[in-house]
Amino acid sequence: MTDLIELSREARRLAYAPYSNYKVGAAVLGVDGKTYTGCNVENVSFGLTVCAERTAVVKMVSAGCQELLALAVATADGGTPCGMCLQVLLEFTKTPDQVKVTCVNESFKGHTYTLTELIPHGFASQL
Ligand code: THU
Repeated sequence: MTDLIELSREARRLAYAPYSNYKVGAAVLGVDGKTYTGCNVENVSFGLTVCAERTAVVKMVSAGCQELLALAVATADGGTPCGMCLQVLLEFTKTPDQVKVTCVNESFKGHTYTLTELIPHGFASQL
């Protein structure tokens, strides 16, 4: 997990956040054993902003891996992923109660949650 945290902190440096100035980095561990990083990418049309977590998940899936095992998120204040990102994370795990989500702040202090703790009643239809 230390490696994943370090990768999320490195990814945070690449954040494009000129509007909010709230930089976010994320690092996902896939079942393929590889790590995928992402940062938030904002837009002058604010609603087009992509969060760091979804950037990382989209990179994982587009590289051919469809399941994640763990996630680290780096922010200024140890903030947790937003609801939209949590639902996307849920899409790519079979065991959300075992997926650890570690959120760290600038001083490396943080908290580890399970994905189930963060999104206990996510949408899961039988479509
Ligand atoms: N942001 C993320 O990257 N991840 C989240 O889970 C919440 C918010 C970004 C979006 C925007 O660029 C900035 O943080 C402030 O909302």
